[in-house]
Amino acid sequence: MRWLTLKLRAQLVFFILCTCVICQCGLINGEICQSKNIRNNVTNLRSLENCTIIEGHLKILLMFGAKSGDFQGLSFPKLRVVTDYVLLFRVYGLETLSDLFPNLTVIRGNNLFFNYALVIYEMLQLKEVGLHSLMNITRGAVRIEKNPDLCYLATLDWSMILDSVEDNFIVANKNERECGDVCPGTAQGQTLCTQTTINGHFRGRCWSQTYCQTSKCQSSFFPLLHLLCHYFRYVSFEPFLCLFRLTCEPCAGPCPKACQGNKTIDSVTSAQALRGCTVIEGNMVIKIRGGTNIAAELEASLGQIEVIKGYLSIRRAYALVSLSFLRKLHTIKGEQLEADSYAFYALDNQNLRQLWDWSKHNLTIERGRTFFHFNSKLCMSEIRKLEKITGTKERNQKNDIAARTNGDQASCEMQLLNFTSVKVRYNMIILKWNSFWPSDYRDLLGFMVLYKEAPFKNVTEFDGQDACGSNSWVIADVDPPPRTNQEDPGYLIRSLKPWTQYAIMVRTQLSASDEHQVHGAKSDIIYVRTNASKPSGPLDPISSSNSSSQIILKWKPPTSPNGKITHYRVICHKQEEDSDLYKFDYCLQGMKLPSRTPTHLDSEDEQKWNRTEEPNSGGGCCTCPKTKMEIEKQQKEIAYRKTFEDYLHNVVFESKQSRPRRSVENPEPIGSTHFYSTMSSLQTTTASYKEEEKDDKVSKVVENVFGRESTVISNLQHFTSYKIEIIACNHLTDPGRCSMATYVSARTMPELKADDIPGPVTHEIVNEEPPHVLVKWHEPPSPNGLIILYEVFYRKVGDTEPHSICVSRLSYEKFGGTKLTLLQPGNYSVIVRATSLAGNGSFTGTTYFFMPSLIYGSLFFIM
Ligand SMILES: *[C@@H]1O[C@H](CO)[C@@H](O)[C@H](O)[C@H]1NC(C)=O
Ligand SMILES: *[C@@H]1O[C@H](CO)[C@@H](O)[C@H](O)[C@H]1NC(C)=O
Ligand SMILES: *[C@@H]1O[C@H](CO)[C@@H](O)[C@H](O)[C@H]1NC(C)=O
Ligand SMILES: *[C@@H]1O[C@H](CO)[C@@H](O)[C@H](O)[C@H]1NC(C)=O
Ligand SMILES: *[C@@H]1O[C@H](CO)[C@@H](O)[C@H](O)[C@H]1NC(C)=O
Ligand SMILES: *[C@@H]1O[C@H](CO)[C@@H](O)[C@H](O)[C@H]1NC(C)=O
Ligand SMILES: *[C@@H]1O[C@H](CO)[C@@H](O)[C@H](O)[C@H]1NC(C)=O
Ligand SMILES: *[C@@H]1O[C@H](CO)[C@@H](O)[C@H](O)[C@H]1NC(C)=O
Ligand SMILES: *[C@@H]1O[C@H](CO)[C@@H](O)[C@H](O)[C@H]1NC(C)=O
Ligand SMILES: *[C@@H]1O[C@H](CO)[C@@H](O)[C@H](O)[C@H]1NC(C)=O
Ligand SMILES: *[C@@H]1O[C@H](CO)[C@@H](O)[C@H](O)[C@H]1NC(C)=O
Repeated sequence: MRWLTLKLRAQLVFFILCTCVICQCGLINGEICQSKNIRNNVTNLRSLENCTIIEGHLKILLMFGAKSGDFQGLSFPKLRVVTDYVLLFRVYGLETLSDLFPNLTVIRGNNLFFNYALVIYEMLQLKEVGLHSLMNITRGAVRIEKNPDLCYLATLDWSMILDSVEDNFIVANKNERECGDVCPGTAQGQTLCTQTTINGHFRGRCWSQTYCQTSKCQSSFFPLLHLLCHYFRYVSFEPFLCLFRLTCEPCAGPCPKACQGNKTIDSVTSAQALRGCTVIEGNMVIKIRGGTNIAAELEASLGQIEVIKGYLSIRRAYALVSLSFLRKLHTIKGEQLEADSYAFYALDNQNLRQLWDWSKHNLTIERGRTFFHFNSKLCMSEIRKLEKITGTKERNQKNDIAARTNGDQASCEMQLLNFTSVKVRYNMIILKWNSFWPSDYRDLLGFMVLYKEAPFKNVTEFDGQDACGSNSWVIADVDPPPRTNQEDPGYLIRSLKPWTQYAIMVRTQLSASDEHQVHGAKSDIIYVRTNASKPSGPLDPISSSNSSSQIILKWKPPTSPNGKITHYRVICHKQEEDSDLYKFDYCLQGMKLPSRTPTHLDSEDEQKWNRTEEPNSGGGCCTCPKTKMEIEKQQKEIAYRKTFEDYLHNVVFESKQSRPRRSVENPEPIGSTHFYSTMSSLQTTTASYKEEEKDDKVSKVVENVFGRESTVISNLQHFTSYKIEIIACNHLTDPGRCSMATYVSARTMPELKADDIPGPVTHEIVNEEPPHVLVKWHEPPSPNGLIILYEVFYRKVGDTEPHSICVSRLSYEKFGGTKLTLLQPGNYSVIVRATSLAGNGSFTGTTYFFMPSLIYGSLFFIM
């Protein structure tokens, strides 16, 4: 045993300890699984069956076809620990997690979903969280949002589970007042669960009707976790979000801004000093040689300059490819001149290929001549155009422009390449163009396809391009076609955004030849809009009810319309009242009387909703949110929401991709790009029509809304809860061009007299043991929601104190009323009123009856 070093011994002890603890917890039967990302089909959940610890996250999402029956009997009792986070999103039909994960004890939150370790979002049918074994969320907070049926939230004390409850975000779930939230024992009038105080509210804590919230940890379990932490490698990533700080600076003085003095631009920094200048009161010399992202930086800094009072000199500015960054320069006054002669001076700019795109730019030189020498890539035609447009042609002298040293290394006589076919899909463009061969065909290295997003039809070839590698275009290389092939060269541009206009051009790529000038070719810039596709869902729906038959809805348009939104579909499903309401006896002591409230929006809510629409509507330069913290929070919130939008969005694209591939290889011919203008001419009207569909059980109202983001749904039942789907469509008839639904729920207002008992209260004297009076009345035929209980007030004529009894729904159903056991004979009066989910109805009229003493007497006799 001596050979056992101390270290080895320690390892052995550790190993034994591990094994023991693992055996004790039943881990030996389990497995450690990697992150689980479970979607689409309930059967995919089976991959969890052997997992005891998920070393990573657990995401269950996007099961649109699931029904509540699919989850029956489905349980993963082995699962104890998730080391990152748990996320649930749009799993339809799932009503509780209590059966699914009965033993999930710890969520460690090593890596979080944003700041959250547990996220439950838009789970439409979830009624309770039910993770009754969950004892500890070690890091991160809880976010439970937009689950319209979710109750048992007020009965949870998160501080028993996690340390920083103030970061929890639990909103837009079922209205707490509408939740029955009956903890175990309550229905029997007992208190079985631990009671704690939150916000001054003392009550029992439970996960559901059957499970109390406990904080009793199995003592053997937590050491295990600590061991695991050492035993397994935990790689921790930095949060994957790259949050950009929103920079915002006020306008520097009134526009225009005149900048004094001579300016030399030799670096990005010196250009930045001129940001915002519109007039240069002196001369400007540009001699920038290098830097990063020069074209974009120069445009941002110098793009506002309109007038240069002196001269413009560009010398040895090797970084420049084009002068288009001087986007607004329209006048050079020439009040001072370079070498007393020149207002425009260009010397030895090796990469300068373009001055401006003269079809879009105008420049006047009021005084002085122009100088061009040793600009080897700048074609003479460019310079001649400048002479003509600026009006210097007449002033210039013979040697001002050197014909031999300008454009000597460029292929200046470009032929026009014509596109022969342009076909478009929602995410790709297929191009073909004329084949082109230079005089020596070996000089053709291939073609370059240049493309970029172009919201406006004003891009030019050299925008954003510099000689240091920056280019605002995406460039694809295309090999020359085989010499023998008669087919036109072509290219398929992939991964484009739907419904987005792209600028596209093609140019030849030629080998530089020392012996002879090579003439290339390029196309004009064309603009092509990709096809529309499914939009993303409408945003921020709000609902309110202003009458017993109407619901007012408002929402905001989707962030990615991916087309022109033609209409919205609003589908209103009637919701049945909670079945628990029929089950419990609310006359029992200690039962909270359930109530429901109609959905109502006060003007404050509405203002809040309005505000989120345009965060920068304050006018002026830009209104900064107050602190850096706030900005970061806001950015994070945006990123958080976008993640879910993307989840939904990806569903759209996954289903698109499963279409037949034929369309890529063999697209249908498309005539011309003008075709697309017809897309935008789709009419919008502000009409709407309504179709009423009757499912066998649920009644639903479907309405199409054209040309606005709001609607009023009428002819609804009073005091009824509706679940409303709002869908955005960008095609009038194709259902494949409608978004995923956004959900909101609402309850209509109560009907005023609906809870009044119809007809009179009747009575029947029953001469039985014990003798009693059967008081009967009719049920309100169409109450607000449902009748929970009746109150019967009776009084012996002559007495002052009335007696009251509570008659629950269940006991009313037994007799159609209630039994009154009256010991004293005499005249009695009785009145009744019903209590519905909306509150109390009116009292009935008073009914009198006479309780004969005979019955009392016979009873007395027997005794
Ligand atoms: C779970 O374990 C059982 C028995 O070892 C095995 O048959 C089954 O394939 C496992 N399931 C998964 C999803 O690994
Ligand atoms: C889920 O998968 C099962 C078995 O693979 C299949 O029978 C069922 O149709 C699927 N359900 C959905 C909604 O795709
Ligand atoms: C898990 O939960 C079930 C049911 O709640 C229970 O019977 C079982 O003992 C628990 N533990 C394990 C390791 O499965
Ligand atoms: C959760 O567990 C961690 C470590 O085991 C502990 O520091 C933390 O206080 C626990 N939180 C709660 C609320 O019990
Ligand atoms: C600008 O440069 C010109 C000569 O190029 C010189 O005459 C003039 O004084 C300079 N102006 C200033 C403000 O330095
Ligand atoms: C360019 O500007 C000059 C002077 O402002 C004007 O005379 C000329 O017509 C303009 N040319 C074009 C094409 O707009
Ligand atoms: C492109 O079309 C123009 C006129 O439409 C024509 O002059 C030119 O030769 C064509 N170019 C090629 C390469 O076919
Ligand atoms: C194109 O036009 C739009 C709107 O007129 C303008 O905002 C944008 O800066 C222009 N872009 C270019 C490259 O000229
Ligand atoms: C692209 O849009 C056009 C015009 O709407 C349509 O005719 C064509 O069928 C669309 N192509 C595809 C693949 O959807
Ligand atoms: C409810 O609001 C809608 C829309 O604002 C209005 O047309 C309707 O008359 C209102 N109903 C009542 C009862 O106020
Ligand atoms: C919200 O905005 C709409 C339209 O901009 C306006 O008509 C309405 O009065 C605003 N509501 C509030 C409460 O500011």
